[in-house]
Amino acid sequence: MTNDVLPNSPTPRQKMRVAYIDHVAQSSGAEIALARLIDALHDVDPLVILAEDGPLVASLMASGVSVEVLPMRERTRDLRKDRVGSRGLPIAALVDTTAYAFRLARRLRALRPDLVHTNSLKAGVYGSLAARLAGVPVVWHLRDRLAADYLRRPAVLVVRALIAILPNSVVVNSEATRATLWLRKTNAVVVYSPVSAPDDTQRARRQRTRHDPFVIGMVGRITRWKGQHVLLEAFARAFPGGSEVVVVVGAPMFGAAEAGYAEELREMSRTWGIADRVDFRGFRDDIWAELSRMDIFVHASMTPEPFGQVIVEAMLAGVPVIASAGGGPSEIVTDAVDGLLYPAGDIDALAELLQRLRGDSRLRSQLRNNARIRAERFSPEAAASSVMSLYGLLLASSWPARRM
Ligand code: UDP
Ligand code: GLC
Repeated sequence: MTNDVLPNSPTPRQKMRVAYIDHVAQSSGAEIALARLIDALHDVDPLVILAEDGPLVASLMASGVSVEVLPMRERTRDLRKDRVGSRGLPIAALVDTTAYAFRLARRLRALRPDLVHTNSLKAGVYGSLAARLAGVPVVWHLRDRLAADYLRRPAVLVVRALIAILPNSVVVNSEATRATLWLRKTNAVVVYSPVSAPDDTQRARRQRTRHDPFVIGMVGRITRWKGQHVLLEAFARAFPGGSEVVVVVGAPMFGAAEAGYAEELREMSRTWGIADRVDFRGFRDDIWAELSRMDIFVHASMTPEPFGQVIVEAMLAGVPVIASAGGGPSEIVTDAVDGLLYPAGDIDALAELLQRLRGDSRLRSQLRNNARIRAERFSPEAAASSVMSLYGLLLASSWPARRM
């Protein structure tokens, strides 16, 4: 834990001082996306304030980012989104969240950042409130679709109302996420989560030999809505008794339900007789090394993925993508041009695409080539430039005196 951003400390070239707020300290997608965004914002002096200690603290600090942990009560910090809105629970959570917002507001008053930028759903609520209390302009970065297939209905309504009222500006990670807001057409700015192309060493694809198995891979947190079971079942149908291998990269991260689902996946592989051709890799830090083993990349989310950084990563790594249509994937991939889309959860459709792509090396190389070009659209420079324009507008309209 560090506290090296002191109030009134001089910052080189008068960089904007932005406090980024997140309740999670795991290297989960939204937090990886935050780290990538901060890395691209060269004119920002960042301070990340997390509600727990965890691996993200060390990884941000290793990239030179200041981090503080302002701990939140576990019962609220770890409250799963599927329980918010069910009876009984939210009262304690509401009390804790409000108390936390006041503590954070106190801290913000001491730190006096130019802006607050919230990164997770919970942090959007308490971080926006805290920023308002402290009189600091706030950007709420929404990375989750506010829809009933993702959150309980009461939570959807409450968050939609809060996001319409609390922040000065809203950033969303896709048009699909924006479409779940009430304020959709007005001031929410779409900033696609950026991914840098791997460098030459990261990209170095192993020379494949005739004896290498054909690898179908997936990367993502192990959780039911990401649909690892859809891939396993489609794989079992597409290649019964074949030599193809499926590689599942990722681990359960949040709670017992995800751990139980991981166990279910192993059980399924045994039931479908593919256990010896399924490689569960667990969480891997070096995603480029994992992608370099893959011949086809599958994304299988059951509900529309808000954005889907893994798809852009696979495209940049030169692995042909099959993704479930809807949400971010439909904004990233143009079907049959730079990837293939299938209806979410449709096991037969996925099995058919797997067979087709397995048998058509020309299609694989066409998708691969187009995808590399398409994925450049999701560059850190593009994201940084949109965010900097937004920060500039916000500072000019909120606190002109302070920036002069
Ligand atoms: N990831 C990783 N190692 C793993 C599994 C996932 O580094 O074992 C990374 C993955 O490369 C991607 C992020 O986790 O950068 C997942 O982000 P995405 O936006 O695809 O989904 P989210 O988890 O945010 O819903
Ligand atoms: C969230 C979403 C994911 C998105 C990521 C970065 O974790 O689930 O789809 O890619 O944020 O914006």
